[in-house]
Amino acid sequence: MRIYLQNMKRFKRYLVTSALPYANGPVHIGHLAGVYVPSDIYVRYLRLKGEDVVWVCGSDEHGVPITIKARREGVAPQDVVDKYHNMIKNSFEKLGISFDIYSRTTSEEHYRTASEFFRTLYDKGAFVEQTSMQYYDNEARQFLADRYITGTCPHCQSERAYGDQCENCGTTLAATDLLNPRSAITGSVPVMKETSHWYLPLDRHEEFLRGWILDGHREWKTNVYGQCKSWLDLGLQPRAVSRDLDWGIPVPVDGAAGKVLYVWFDAPIGYISATKELTPDWERYWKGEDTKMVHFIGKDNIVFHCIMFPAMLHAHGGYTLPENVPANEFLNLEGEKISTSRNWAVWLHEYLVDFPGKEDVLRYVLCANAPETKDNDFTWRDFQARNNNELVAVLGNFVNRALVLTDKYFDRRVPAPGPLSDYDRDTLAELPAIRRSLEENIENFRFREALKDAMNIARLGNKYLADAEPWKVVKTDPTRVETILNIALQITANLAVAIEPFMPFTAARVLAMLDLENFGWERLGSVDLVPAGHTLGRAELLFEKIEDSVIEAQLSKLAETKQANAALAPAAPAAPQKETVSFEDFGRMDIRVATIVAAERVEKTKKLLKLTIDAGVDRRVIVSGIAEYYAPEELVGRQALVLVNLEPRELRGVLSQGMILMASDATGRLVLLSPTDRVASGATVG
Ligand code: MF3
Ligand code: ZN
Repeated sequence: MRIYLQNMKRFKRYLVTSALPYANGPVHIGHLAGVYVPSDIYVRYLRLKGEDVVWVCGSDEHGVPITIKARREGVAPQDVVDKYHNMIKNSFEKLGISFDIYSRTTSEEHYRTASEFFRTLYDKGAFVEQTSMQYYDNEARQFLADRYITGTCPHCQSERAYGDQCENCGTTLAATDLLNPRSAITGSVPVMKETSHWYLPLDRHEEFLRGWILDGHREWKTNVYGQCKSWLDLGLQPRAVSRDLDWGIPVPVDGAAGKVLYVWFDAPIGYISATKELTPDWERYWKGEDTKMVHFIGKDNIVFHCIMFPAMLHAHGGYTLPENVPANEFLNLEGEKISTSRNWAVWLHEYLVDFPGKEDVLRYVLCANAPETKDNDFTWRDFQARNNNELVAVLGNFVNRALVLTDKYFDRRVPAPGPLSDYDRDTLAELPAIRRSLEENIENFRFREALKDAMNIARLGNKYLADAEPWKVVKTDPTRVETILNIALQITANLAVAIEPFMPFTAARVLAMLDLENFGWERLGSVDLVPAGHTLGRAELLFEKIEDSVIEAQLSKLAETKQANAALAPAAPAAPQKETVSFEDFGRMDIRVATIVAAERVEKTKKLLKLTIDAGVDRRVIVSGIAEYYAPEELVGRQALVLVNLEPRELRGVLSQGMILMASDATGRLVLLSPTDRVASGATVG
């Protein structure tokens, strides 16, 4: 039994990886908040500290979604990945995501590295070969791996489940679990056919994994540790590492024609290939005991990075294992799951066009809202509020005041400090404390908290200026103002460095306004960063308010997407028929045509409208839950079908006498039913 010690190791260097995005679509805010923004913060911080760090990433260019897309668009898979690889690489760069290398899994180095890796395991007897029956499309003459097979999910009945997963309920599936399986290529019903594949017997590594993770890495985030534990407790099974496909890295053994490496086998090896491409010294990062390897991923990647890839590395031997795998949860958009196929996303390349010069605003909002411990929601209103109330009002405001006042009173020349008051000293003493908290938070992957720490420097500065009131003191004690502004500028310089990992463009602008070079993390917390007598650069505004109209434009873009999706959506399955009723039962219901004569919202509710109707028999009030679908003014004058002899009931203090009949589909939307021709109020329906 091996004893694993936690957090006792000293590391000499860092190897940071970020999940390789699939090159079958552009990058969106969910990817950014979950993986790329946090890892960029982490690496920029390490670099500022002068650590030896290498950060690798690249496009994941194999896998079935890519071949499906290529087939649909009538182009080669290589064309698809070329297009998205360039687009992704480019937009990452513009957002300041500072990988040391952004490679791709169709690179020659990767083919070589992944093939060799497979071959080594193969030669060691680390795989088992097994035959099994798999779905085959007779028309396309092809086996149907993973997403090539679709059908009904046995758990949630969604009709759009895939052969490897149901996206509706998140369950991992095997192709044979699907009800009504269909080929995604031809739509035909597949047949079963025998095929043989290589499997990595994860069960052989179970004991090692249990010791390494469950005993050795209790410090991992609870979502990560918990998922690993439940996989391990269920017992690991052999996992296929090859597929019958014509897109991928050919299985490098004789007699394996038509077979390629499973995408989840080759992709993580991409981290190794990318490091090789980056530096001839790559083994120092991959093979040293004293490297701290950290994988940044989304929660759907946990099993591959914590179980599968470590088992591969362990079986191979000689490789560093990850020291931590800080996986994030998911980011939603305006309350709904982000979806590439439904175009429900804020795409990075579009953001960059719509908001030029506001790269840091997005970085800021995504970090402040990062789904670190639970799924989180991005809303455009929150984006606007954070920009206006935090970046403009706190950060921008402080820096601007410090610089503009120095300009005004001292002609941009940094004044020398005089004797410090207790308040000055207390204020400055906060800086090292903030630094410690910031470090502790970043090192433990709590980036939201870390960002708050950095912003606290600006808050500290604002408070200091508000309390010290140099604009008043200048009239009575101008020498005191020299001290006050010197302190404000020292705080500004600290701020510039502390925000660099989060908002690198802004940090650079603040340093330019101070006319200083970045002095690195070591001097953070110091109060002599800006020398007296130094001349500052020109002050300019860091952030500007985002107006309502800008936000509304983004919201209406999303509304259009929603409409387009609704038009495309296949009719949802109708609700099942209810049990039979007699003629008599039906006849007891008194349904009438009524005319709506007045409508108003029921106060303090979102859904309810108070409708006054002319039901022929009388005028009465009905409360109806349609406020989300109809405005009161568009209802007045319209006719509706009303169940008039339903027993009255009180809703929110209003007596409702009857029910307006509505149609509703699986989306839950309510539609008013009106006679197609106008009839007299009170006409009977039946
Ligand atoms: N392409 C995968 C995804 O987007 C991530 C691959 S990570 C790697 O979910 F380790 F396999 F590279
Ligand atoms: Zn499901």
